[in-house]
Amino acid sequence: MPSRYHPALVVLHWALAFCLIGLLIAGTTLLAPVANDDPAKLLSFRMHMALGGITLLLLIARVIVRLATRTPPRHHTGNALLDRLAPLTHVLLYILPLVMIVSGIVFARASNLPDAVFGAGPMPDSFAHPARAVHGIASTLLIALIALHIAAALWHQFFRRDGIMTRMWFGAR
Ligand code: HEM
Ligand code: HEM
Repeated sequence: MPSRYHPALVVLHWALAFCLIGLLIAGTTLLAPVANDDPAKLLSFRMHMALGGITLLLLIARVIVRLATRTPPRHHTGNALLDRLAPLTHVLLYILPLVMIVSGIVFARASNLPDAVFGAGPMPDSFAHPARAVHGIASTLLIALIALHIAAALWHQFFRRDGIMTRMWFGAR
């Protein structure tokens, strides 16, 4: 079994981390608290929706590369609960971004937002759609999960010193 993830998967891991953290910060600070008729929101909408689309493509590529390449053996900490928690959080770190993208597209389309943002259509007053609530709740869950994931990575790196970070970096496999 290889000692690291495939380099393409490493690139996709870090590119997606960058996109997702950017979308979460910008969504929470530049979109949710700002009224839709604020002219400054138009650029934020454009960037958010375009980056959301790029994120979808990266996520699809990541799933394909993940299924097509060999991965390092599952890491054991010696704690049965932690050893079960790790793969569960990893699966959720694939699923929640997908929920964000699908819900975003659903409520944006339902309120004709692409027309307003990329064309000349009228801007909706607000987003009264159940998928808007899903987008908000999933974003909170994703932020919590990423915080847990980063805390776990730092714990491995600085307390257990088991070198797990090198598995998600480049080098001989
Ligand atoms: C949006 C942010 C992030 C997401 C969505 C994410 C997602 C994931 C997923 C799904 C895996 C499992 C890969 C697989 O087996 O398919 C993984 C592994 C990993 N992530 Fe992240 N990650 C993020 C940010 C970070 C950050 C900031 C760090 C470091 C501080 C990090 C460090 C790692 C490491 C070291 C692994 C390899 C774990 C192992 O060897 O089993 N990740 N990440
Ligand atoms: C992984 C991808 C995405 C992430 C992480 C993300 C993240 C966020 C976050 C954190 C918010 C603020 C939620 C709140 O505080 O209630 C937000 C709002 C929003 N998102 Fe996304 N988003 C993603 C994809 C998309 C996509 C693909 C679209 C549409 C095509 C979209 C459309 C919107 C819109 C229109 C808002 C603003 C809603 C408002 O002003 O009330 N998002 N997003």
